[in-house]
Amino acid sequence: MTDRQTIALVLGTRPEIIKLAPVLRELESRDHPYTLVHTGQHYSGNLSSVFFDQLNLDPPDYDLGVGSSSHGEQTGVMIREIEVALNEIDPAWVLVQGDTNSVLAGAIVTSKMDAKLGHIEAGLRSYDRKMPEEINRVLTDHASDHLFAPTESAAANLATEGITDRVTVTGNTVVDAVDQHADLATSESAVLERFEISPGKYLVLTAHRSENVDVKGRFRSIIEGVSRAADSVGFPVIYPVHPRAEERLSEFEFSIPENIRIVEPLDYLDFLHLEQHAAAMVTDSGGVQEESCILDTPCVTVRANTERPETVTVGANELVGVDPTKIATGVKAAVETDVDWENPFGDGTAAEQILDTLSEHYIVSDA
Ligand code: UD1
Ligand code: UDP
Repeated sequence: MTDRQTIALVLGTRPEIIKLAPVLRELESRDHPYTLVHTGQHYSGNLSSVFFDQLNLDPPDYDLGVGSSSHGEQTGVMIREIEVALNEIDPAWVLVQGDTNSVLAGAIVTSKMDAKLGHIEAGLRSYDRKMPEEINRVLTDHASDHLFAPTESAAANLATEGITDRVTVTGNTVVDAVDQHADLATSESAVLERFEISPGKYLVLTAHRSENVDVKGRFRSIIEGVSRAADSVGFPVIYPVHPRAEERLSEFEFSIPENIRIVEPLDYLDFLHLEQHAAAMVTDSGGVQEESCILDTPCVTVRANTERPETVTVGANELVGVDPTKIATGVKAAVETDVDWENPFGDGTAAEQILDTLSEHYIVSDA
């Protein structure tokens, strides 16, 4: 059906589903026509359908089933398939969120058709062009007709690149998502009982970035550092393993220290509940750096840089790289830190502000 009010949303991975859920809810509550396109970049149940079920989202209207392959092939197939879908949908706007290959593919297709592109979580920069996500962010920002920056510092990054006239600072939809689910996580999740751990007496590790887990020495250093940290604070570690990392763990044949417990990827409420009560998070995830900051849980990031510098500035996050000694020292300091910072990612109304911006400035009137 052709409807020039229609907003199409293109997503493909776990964090995009979580961070676009508030936007989908806001569209529902305004009764605004929208169509959801899932590229299928993430397809395992515990990376995709579990979030649609648990977050009460309708299944995608289009599931392109692109799956895993090399960057070029994956992005290329997405471009071909997204173009077919968007030609059928004929949207006024296409929204993408974040920095994955699905986002880049959605941006490229939209920029060549008669539809406008909105980038949610625009303006993040790690200034590390070896990260595929950094290239995806830069290209998507520069192809966008409107950019929704989560913070003033993200907007300042865009200004440095000459993008000033089509930017709105909205906060990050991750705050909306946390606000909408934190109480539910407290009441519904039994993850602490299941893992037999006590609030404030465990660490959580997530590591999945290709520059960390695909490099044997770096991945080994992270495991060693986190195990040393766990010894020094006397807490066990829960590590929900992303499939990329799981493949590397078996390929590299690491023996995992006893104080690190490997588990399957968790659903959102269980993971939020773990984050709410962890003594500290150790991560290379973007979303986890943000969520732990929002939830007043100290974070230690096993990277040399971050595109979320606000978390470091407010004192919620420390960048320690992958040196085992630095990880152990960083975790000890995090566990002992006084939690006293302001969430820099907004007031939980990002989705509302994004749709207000679109309806005020671009889309003639709501249906
Ligand atoms: C992607 C994003 C990354 C994001 C992450 C969120 C890019 C370049 N990377 O990384 O920015 O932080 O998603 O989690 O877009 N696999 C499965 N099941 C799935 C999906 C993947 O088993 O449902 C396995 C496959 O072996 C695949 C590997 O995981 O080769 C990596 O998947 P891919 O989507 O290429 O990248 P991610 O590491 O998930
Ligand atoms: N997450 C989850 N289960 C897990 C690990 C993470 O639900 O086992 C959620 C987490 O709450 C956050 C998002 O996944 O909202 C982060 O995704 P990921 O780390 O895969 O990607 P990134 O944010 O680094 O792009």
